Amino acid sequence: DTTVTISAAVLGFTAVAKNLNDVVTVPAGYTATVLYRLGDPIAAGVAAYKNDGSDTEFSKRAGDHHDGMSYFGLAATGTAPDPTNNTRGVLVMNHENITVPYLHTAGATAVGGVRPEAEALKEIECHGVSVVEINRTGGAWSYLQTGALNRRITPMTPMAFSGPAKGHALLKTVYSKDGTTGRGTINNCANGTMPWNTYLTNEENWVGYFRRDSGDAAVRTAAGAAKENVSLARYGRSEGGTGNNGWSTVVAADASSTVYSRWNVTAKAGLAADGTADFRHEVFQYGWVVEIDPFNATSVPRKRTALGRMNHEGCVIGRTVVGVSPAFYMGDDAQNEYLYKFVSTAKWAAADASNADRLAMGDKYLDAGILYVAKLAADGSGTWLPLVFGQGGLTAASTVYPFADQADVLINTRLAADVLGATKMDRPEWTAVNPATGEMYLTLTNNSSRTVANTDAANPRAYSDPKTSGGASNGNANGHVIRLRETGDTSEALSFKWDIYAFGAGSDLDAANINLSGLDATNDFSSPDGLWFGLPSNITGTATPLMWIQTDDGAYTDVTNCMMLAAIPGVVDDGATKTITNTIGGATGTQATRIGKAPGTALRRFLVGPKQCEITGIFSTPDGKSVFVNIQHPGEGGNAAAISSSWPASQAGTPASPSRPRSATVVITKDDGGVVGL
Ligand code: FEO
Ligand code: CA
Ligand code: CA
Ligand code: CA
Repeated sequence: DTTVTISAAVLGFTAVAKNLNDVVTVPAGYTATVLYRLGDPIAAGVAAYKNDGSDTEFSKRAGDHHDGMSYFGLAATGTAPDPTNNTRGVLVMNHENITVPYLHTAGATAVGGVRPEAEALKEIECHGVSVVEINRTGGAWSYLQTGALNRRITPMTPMAFSGPAKGHALLKTVYSKDGTTGRGTINNCANGTMPWNTYLTNEENWVGYFRRDSGDAAVRTAAGAAKENVSLARYGRSEGGTGNNGWSTVVAADASSTVYSRWNVTAKAGLAADGTADFRHEVFQYGWVVEIDPFNATSVPRKRTALGRMNHEGCVIGRTVVGVSPAFYMGDDAQNEYLYKFVSTAKWAAADASNADRLAMGDKYLDAGILYVAKLAADGSGTWLPLVFGQGGLTAASTVYPFADQADVLINTRLAADVLGATKMDRPEWTAVNPATGEMYLTLTNNSSRTVANTDAANPRAYSDPKTSGGASNGNANGHVIRLRETGDTSEALSFKWDIYAFGAGSDLDAANINLSGLDATNDFSSPDGLWFGLPSNITGTATPLMWIQTDDGAYTDVTNCMMLAAIPGVVDDGATKTITNTIGGATGTQATRIGKAPGTALRRFLVGPKQCEITGIFSTPDGKSVFVNIQHPGEGGNAAAISSSWPASQAGTPASPSRPRSATVVITKDDGGVVGL
């Protein structure tokens, strides 16, 4: 029986103090246990991880940089879903990136030269997604090395395109001459958990992996594809550079290699202009939301093109109401990018949640609908602007980009949103929806390019943060959390109202203009990123369930490692306008904004991570009694010769000698067996 009744929604723990310790700190009365680490084997016959740089077979091990994550309950036996199971399930998580200096025996060969194939292969396979069975026996959680559903999805796993851009000319490449399939997913950041038991993984900073040599633009222009250059520039792929890890330099690579050469998208003169003879279009195969069926280890993931192409941070479904089209909220995480909502054509049918053809349910809700981008007005209202070919200037006559059809609009979502005049935000990261009220929350992590002159009501702060480690940082140094309430409380709404739930800030900063939410030592934070509502599926008795906030910070890390907070967040307030004064150097100006009620004691620090990590990824069992949290890139500033964190070995006490750090999942339980956080 997982029913939990909460009579009074009150945070039930003592705040964890800010600290710089090399350990995961949780409140008194709680325990954090390491569950699943970089390199842990997830297939039969794979050796235990030596963690000395000599390990191989990463397509059968946990990847690096654990990020967004969902828990799906399993039936007591077998591989069918049971969303009520609190002791047996599959954990699905993203492996966003890699800390190269710890992956190889003596660091790594320099990027810029020729990369050894073995190093490049390991680095590629450390990206992607893990699906791993876990269970709880005798009160202790463990993962199963030989779980039937265990799977690694990597940048080489076959994928299928779905939705309006499937088969589009820009998706044609050597690997997929008809533009209907692709290979792999990369830089998977936050997640999405669909009620029909699938997992969404979101491609964020994919463009940086691609090499584009000088001269490419001229070849594309000569091939009659000058508009590809406009698109590449808008998504940050200018000419020059080797790509993040120089994978295309592997000697074994050749023109047909879909493993290494594909990371060089330089168009080759004289080859087919349609992209089927080289990798010029490979870059358009990324930037999508990808749906995975975790209950079928041989299923082919689907790239859902109706949800647009951007630096997808995450994709979260709003409340489902029978007979109403569901909404999916998404941030595009880069400075001055946008917030999006996709609304399905299909109306929600409750029986779909238990349909065994899970990817067909994704086809139903994620392939047809309208993608909108948000415009936030100074008075606290806002509108959703449709990204529909032929409307609002999204035509071939646009001087921004000549849109040819709806697929072209979706492949070039950012350019379309530019045309519509959407609101440029302070790096939209995770979205989360309050299951009790339907209100959507969005983390805006920070924005060093926000100036006194270009603030707006929704992105109102621009200041010099004197506490930033390494010196002052200008702009919105500490980030904020915004929220919106749809008109009529319906996912189909075309308008909303909004306010700012909380501004990040050191508690010692100017209360009138920077620490606007009155944070104190128990809850001051900086650079909010991960965000999740943890309402256990059948908790009743409160309209304000727990919300979790995780940080990915560089501005307050002189004082504390990154952290996770719990909140009982209230609702969008009416009429709370405040005018603040922004100052950077000699520039000063005023800005009116909309601030919600101060969170006070209903926002509290629950966890502080080890050195040089980011806290990202959270999910719980349906009863809320086991909370899974990911610790990403501990010790990222060090290397094999100068180890800067020994976590997770340090979790059980300082190891006798430095141990290479590993990204890992921890599971947090309350010692009295209760709901975590309450
Ligand atoms: Fe991967 Fe925007 O965080
Ligand atoms: Ca990260
Ligand atoms: Ca993130
Ligand atoms: Ca981040």
